[in-house]
Amino acid sequence: MRYLFILLFALTCLSYAKPQLKFNATGQFKIMQLTDTHYDYFNQDIPQTLNMVTNFLQWEKPDFVAFTGDLITGYLWNGTADWFYDRWSPHAALLTKFGVPWGYALGNHDGEADLDRRQCVELDMTAPFSLSKTGPAYMGNSTFYVQVYDKFGKKPLWNLWFFDTGSQVCYGIPGWGCLTHEAVQWYISNEKGLPGLAFMHIPLDEYLQMYNLQATAGFYEEIMACSSLNTGLFSAFKAKGMVKGVGCGHNHEIDLEGYFAGLYLAFGRKSGYGSYGPAPDMQRGVRMWVINEDSSFYTYIRQEDGSIMQRTINDLSNHTAIQDYCMWAQYNLPNYHIL
Ligand SMILES: *[C@@H]1O[C@H](CO)[C@@H](O)[C@H](O)[C@H]1NC(C)=O
Ligand SMILES: *[C@@H]1O[C@H](CO)[C@@H](O)[C@H](O)[C@H]1NC(C)=O
Ligand SMILES: *[C@@H]1O[C@H](CO)[C@@H](O)[C@H](O)[C@H]1NC(C)=O
Ligand SMILES: *[C@@H]1O[C@H](CO)[C@@H](O)[C@H](O)[C@H]1NC(C)=O
Repeated sequence: MRYLFILLFALTCLSYAKPQLKFNATGQFKIMQLTDTHYDYFNQDIPQTLNMVTNFLQWEKPDFVAFTGDLITGYLWNGTADWFYDRWSPHAALLTKFGVPWGYALGNHDGEADLDRRQCVELDMTAPFSLSKTGPAYMGNSTFYVQVYDKFGKKPLWNLWFFDTGSQVCYGIPGWGCLTHEAVQWYISNEKGLPGLAFMHIPLDEYLQMYNLQATAGFYEEIMACSSLNTGLFSAFKAKGMVKGVGCGHNHEIDLEGYFAGLYLAFGRKSGYGSYGPAPDMQRGVRMWVINEDSSFYTYIRQEDGSIMQRTINDLSNHTAIQDYCMWAQYNLPNYHIL
């Protein structure tokens, strides 16, 4: 496994420069959001997931992959060396074979095996097609942005932001992790006024408000596992006015999309065979994000059977159950699923 991977990389590594992201000749750029692959067992889910992702790449030919966390289920680590590497490398080799650059925001499970959170990103950064970056640890280890340039590669036109939403516990509050205050400040001071998309693992708390209060479209088949505290990234987006859409993962049985306070919020679609989900009436898939030079964009879901699901956001009728809290935000909420 390791040998094959090194060979593949050696072939693509002849030039050390990382690829530059550029709009195509007709002014579009296509992003595939892969999430929650949970590459776990070599004799089970891993080959199935790699086959499925191969189909997605062939069908969509994306310009970029935004990976929103939980590449693996770290708590399944059996104590052997190279456990994370052995799961990450065939995935990275597949994207490399298709020549697709990617960015990787950590999920809550990525740092639970033999590599810690920072080491996961440091390993990812060694791949020539990885545009992931790691910064000061207080910001989270996968908070960074990449830019999409005009077709000549001269002028940056969009920012693609990646945020590290941690794993569990936010400033001492039990529940799901959150973005640190320093990372929110970093976003505010680095926002250069370009339209952007933001990718992260754990949904912002505003996703829950959106579900409770606004029209949405899509599946909501389990309790939403948003951050245990709201650290203000959404309000920073609103204040700056440049981020146009947010994509998260984490919940395997939710793929909602909608607008909250005018900002598009969406879940991806569970992209792997490992771990639980999706719900029986959902397929695995990927959310595709097509951005235009002029700051507009649209999304759709490509499903495992090849079909495309593109929805109209106009439904309030299915919001029969209001969810009171982000899961785990209250001590007495049952642990509905180990996500
Ligand atoms: C540019 O990308 C869009 C979206 O992927 C695609 O529909 C279009 O055909 C592409 N244009 C060219 C010239 O490749
Ligand atoms: C641990 O998992 C690896 C695959 O990642 C496998 O090759 C190895 O045999 C396993 N070791 C034990 C002790 O189960
Ligand atoms: C970054 O990763 C290190 C481990 O390498 C960890 O100790 C630290 O808590 C992480 N930072 C955040 C904000 O998650
Ligand atoms: C609402 O729920 C019903 C029953 O589960 C389902 O058939 C229908 O497609 C849902 N509507 C939308 C817009 O998701």
